[in-house]
Amino acid sequence: MKIAEQKKALATAVAAARKAGQLIRQNHRRVKTVNSETQHDIKLELDVRCQKLIEKIVLKALPESAILGEEDSSGAANAELRWVIDPIDGTVNFSYGIPHVSVSIALQRRVHISAKSSAASEVVYETIVGVVYDPFCDEMWTAIRGQAAKLNGIPIRVSQRNKLDNAIISMGFAKSKETVEKTLPYFVRVVPRVRKMRIMGSAALALVYVASGRFDAYVEGGISLWDIAAGGLILECAGGEFWHEPNGKEFGYRILASNGLLRKPLERLA
Ligand code: IPD
Ligand code: CA
Repeated sequence: MKIAEQKKALATAVAAARKAGQLIRQNHRRVKTVNSETQHDIKLELDVRCQKLIEKIVLKALPESAILGEEDSSGAANAELRWVIDPIDGTVNFSYGIPHVSVSIALQRRVHISAKSSAASEVVYETIVGVVYDPFCDEMWTAIRGQAAKLNGIPIRVSQRNKLDNAIISMGFAKSKETVEKTLPYFVRVVPRVRKMRIMGSAALALVYVASGRFDAYVEGGISLWDIAAGGLILECAGGEFWHEPNGKEFGYRILASNGLLRKPLERLA
């Protein structure tokens, strides 16, 4: 994809994020319809509506692309381009009226299809465009691979803090009992070592806060690709380190995203 096409894709993702953001703001104080809930998660009818709105806009711009979303997926499993969408990242916050949520949209390109065995093959994608939008603060983070990340059009950089003592670390407890139980002992070890710990409830916003130097790192043991695809690129384009590895669940990862200086000290506490 040429750079002019990537810029066009970025403009499309920005427009889609704004539209979804508008719908999120309009519904802030309204009663929300719950589609399903578990102990640590809620899914709203509005999640689905926002995703449909985004899909309509991005598929109009790139009709051949596939969709991989928190609410729905479509298109070929090995499509050359795919949009990775989290229509409302921070649904639990939003359900409780807490205005800390984001819209996350990434465009990925297929980099290769590697034969894992004679029977199975794996398709590998990389993110080339990323947008994270906070509709309540009207903050729009954007990145195109290889270029500077921006917040509302202004380039951003990660922090220079290299000691845990004065760092703000964000963590997520994910959705499963198993991940919560695994995360708690680590949380207990980290809290006394850092200036502040924050559990804000939107992984995409945590990533772009690290990219902007507001947080110094973000750690979570069970996160999905749609939570992190856009924010991960934005972080890398802001000079940060987007360390993540598959956690065995479909599209699932554990992640230690940082300004690049705090990964090792945080790993030592694991
Ligand atoms: C969740 C949020 C939360 C994180 C969870 C995510 P959702 O996404 O990003 O901060 O801890 O792991 O699943 O469900 O609000 O879109
Ligand atoms: Ca999410």
